[in-house]
Amino acid sequence: TSNREKYRPAFHHTPLYGWMNDPNGMVYKDGIWHLYYQWNPYGSKWQNLSWGHSSSKDLVTWEHHPVAIEPNGLGYVFSGSSVLDPDNTAGFGKDAIISLYTSAAASQIQSLAHSKDNGMTFEIYPGNPVITLESEARDPNMFWNAATGEWNLLLAHALDHEMLIFRSPDLKNWTLNSAFGKGLGAQDGVWECPDLFELTVEGSGEKKWMLICNINPGGPFGGSAAQYFIGDFDGKTFTPDKDADGNVPTKWMDFGKDHYATVSWSDAPDNRRTVIGWMSNWQYAAEVPTMQFRSANTLPREMGLFKASDGQIYVSTVPSPEVDMLRDRLVSRQSKLSVGKNPRKISLPADNDGICEILLDIDSRKGAPVSVMLSNDEGDYVDMVYNPSESTLTFDRRKSGVTDFSQDFPAVTVAPTFSYDDSTLKLRIFVDRSSIEVFEADGKFAMTNLVFPTAPYNRISFSADGGKADIRNLKIFSIKDVND
Ligand code: FRU
Repeated sequence: TSNREKYRPAFHHTPLYGWMNDPNGMVYKDGIWHLYYQWNPYGSKWQNLSWGHSSSKDLVTWEHHPVAIEPNGLGYVFSGSSVLDPDNTAGFGKDAIISLYTSAAASQIQSLAHSKDNGMTFEIYPGNPVITLESEARDPNMFWNAATGEWNLLLAHALDHEMLIFRSPDLKNWTLNSAFGKGLGAQDGVWECPDLFELTVEGSGEKKWMLICNINPGGPFGGSAAQYFIGDFDGKTFTPDKDADGNVPTKWMDFGKDHYATVSWSDAPDNRRTVIGWMSNWQYAAEVPTMQFRSANTLPREMGLFKASDGQIYVSTVPSPEVDMLRDRLVSRQSKLSVGKNPRKISLPADNDGICEILLDIDSRKGAPVSVMLSNDEGDYVDMVYNPSESTLTFDRRKSGVTDFSQDFPAVTVAPTFSYDDSTLKLRIFVDRSSIEVFEADGKFAMTNLVFPTAPYNRISFSADGGKADIRNLKIFSIKDVND
């Protein structure tokens, strides 16, 4: 019906054309979710970095707008953040959207801008830059700290592998208070795109701060990835929690290869902490086999915290509730499928390129590894294996379709399933034309991987090699193409 290209996502945000990297500057205002992103409107590689702009009333259908901030004499417009300022502390008006981004040329300096027309166009602050450092520092992420009655700002001190923490009364004058991170967590790449916010630990009601630190390279499966720290924050210093041995553990927000630059929306309603990530990896983002556009964003996700049996607090990640609206028809339903060595096969909805959401519980009574495989008639397949004795889920995309555009693309990624006390693993899997996102149903892990099948996957099969298992509560919903 349309002339959209083969790998154009059906239900993920993408620019209409051109190159995209980091989502950034996201803010919720008057019922609208504004999403800005690193955009090259003139080509499909990383150049002419501007803030592209899309907006949504429901987080899943997006309207595309003209470029919001264009490069100027200070340089490219790199990633940043936006806030509302209801007390008019900055003097731009109670109704303004205020953004801070990195102007990148020979040096990286921080520039302020504000919008009086609900985020469509921005006036650049004549007093820029508001922060200048000698060394590479970028991706300012600011937020109102209700406890201290001041603004805070995290700035990635990229090559120094630390996050600088500032505060300000007015968004214009910033005081550096501390630096977090030297020698902590994953250190192999540059530190980029920070975020910091408070969440409540499920069950206990305890409050903790989550500090997001995207790093590139040095991710668990190569290339870029999002790590995080849990700790306390007093407006000046972030103090990370330690494990039983007195070390600060390295934690990952997602266990796939294609989840980067993840940050949250400012001013989201109902105390929500909603995030979105760039669904690619710097290793091959410029090589992926799409044509009119490059890169999509992940599904919008809700952040929470839970305490695991090792005593540590981890992030939980679930698709935002709005994602449920994408369900079209229930195309398959099985309350119980007993599986053994021979695969049990079920067709995926053929009339919409197999685009679907799959819900299932894997009950591995005998402890045998259980394979959940998506495949097509061309011989492409993605094999997801739940190994209950190791409490892992692996995702093998080495034969997923087109993989030869980069030697870094074929990969097996692995997530901890946190299912030590219970052999049942409950999953929600979202299959789009060129991506698969796997969520543990309560959000205990998320795993995001790109795939480029030569033809859509048209079946799912289940097997338990060397044992028996039950697949329970299987439901497959076809998903509408909301981008068509
Ligand atoms: C992260 C990043 C940011 C920078 C932006 C430039 O992917 O390198 O640090 O602001 O991309 O496009």
